[in-house]
Amino acid sequence: MNDTLRRTANTIEQGDSTLRLAEIISALSHALDMTDGQPAGHSVRCCWIGMHVGEALGLTVTDLSDLYYALLLKDLGCSSNAARICQLYVSNDQTFKRNVKLIDDSLPQILRFVVSNTAVKSGLATRLKTILNLAMNGGGIEHELIETRCHRGADIARQMGFSAAVSQAILALDEHWNGGGQPLGLAGDRISLLARIALLAQVVDVFHTAAGAKAALREVSRRSGTWFDPALVAVLQSLGDRSSFWETLGSPDIEARVYDLEPSGEMRTVDDDLLDDIADGFAQVIDAKSPFTSGHSKRVALFTDLIAREMDMPDARRRWLVRAALLHDIGKLGVSNEILDKPAKLDDEEWVLMKDHSARGEAILSRIAVFSGMASIAGSHHEKLDGSGYPRGLKGEDISIETRIVTAADIFDALTAERPYRAAIPLSTALGIMAREIGTSIDPLCYLALVRVTEQLEPAPCEPPVMRTPALSLTA
Ligand SMILES: [Fe+2]
Ligand SMILES: [Fe+2]
Repeated sequence: MNDTLRRTANTIEQGDSTLRLAEIISALSHALDMTDGQPAGHSVRCCWIGMHVGEALGLTVTDLSDLYYALLLKDLGCSSNAARICQLYVSNDQTFKRNVKLIDDSLPQILRFVVSNTAVKSGLATRLKTILNLAMNGGGIEHELIETRCHRGADIARQMGFSAAVSQAILALDEHWNGGGQPLGLAGDRISLLARIALLAQVVDVFHTAAGAKAALREVSRRSGTWFDPALVAVLQSLGDRSSFWETLGSPDIEARVYDLEPSGEMRTVDDDLLDDIADGFAQVIDAKSPFTSGHSKRVALFTDLIAREMDMPDARRRWLVRAALLHDIGKLGVSNEILDKPAKLDDEEWVLMKDHSARGEAILSRIAVFSGMASIAGSHHEKLDGSGYPRGLKGEDISIETRIVTAADIFDALTAERPYRAAIPLSTALGIMAREIGTSIDPLCYLALVRVTEQLEPAPCEPPVMRTPALSLTA
């Protein structure tokens, strides 16, 4: 294990109370921004905006604490409808998600949006067919997409141990003051106050980032009484009169300023159990992105744990390694489903974007000082011992044993998992394929540990048939 992981394991074991939940969640919120096609820091900026509204309203410390995490995690369900958006609109899900946040629910804006965001790279026949489907089923489609996203996000927040108030705010993010929102069509103060603040903060950041403070204030006024609670709009307007409010929003130290906004009486720290729950929650976000890799992160974490246990890795070190395995593909949240779910070979440009997921994952996890060991694993899990991997072309000893374990688990899952386009590959066949990669892609000790693990598992009564279309991939 590298020094960083050893050190962090000890720090947590010793009950160090300096690891703040705010630091971890604000860093991981950058993965949600990528998924939603938003400029980096969107969730953090929403937290700045929404917390100022909450403080001006005189919310209690407990409510402000819930609001803080609701704002950072409002997009927790954003990966769950990405594949469906890509399929229904024949469109890049990230571009779609970015553009949809710039329109309201007026018919002219919706029509313009559909025409300019639907099947734009396709031929005329596909374009017409797709637009016709949307015209005939638009209401149901919108409801389905928002319902999936809101429920999934609320469920994951609850599983990560956040309060019912945080979960409710995520669930009601897209409800509108006049009852015209989704998924329940709630109106007025039947909508959670935290959700009303979060939606307002979201629109303010989107328009401020795209067109500046005046545009943001104009948009908020325009939607007062339809999308937004007029009382909240009045609060925002008075905040917006202060130039310092906008200056901080656009400044590079916004992240540090947002840490300071967590109510001091409710400042939360992280222990091992909570860290496990957070890694598990974000693994669900990653695994929801594409049906092609559904459950992948969780299975890679399981295989990593079994291999590391077989190699006698101490418990505390293994616990960190499992978290790293859960998050190894977090960078895939920044890759469009047009690429992730493409049923054919990727072209050169798409392959570059796909390979970039390692670096993206490393960049996100590097934002958290104690995650640096996990960041290194996320950044190097596609490196190969012979130097032919990516992104850095690392060789042999430059690839840590922890990374080699995750890589072996990653390849094993890529081969043995059932995929939408093929059945699972039988265990013995998968191990045979992996044996041919020993010394090039796969570490020999990790391979032997994996073989011993599989020998301890109950043999399947009958192994499923092998289907190899499209071409088999050794990685996921
Ligand atoms: Fe990967
Ligand atoms: Fe993977």
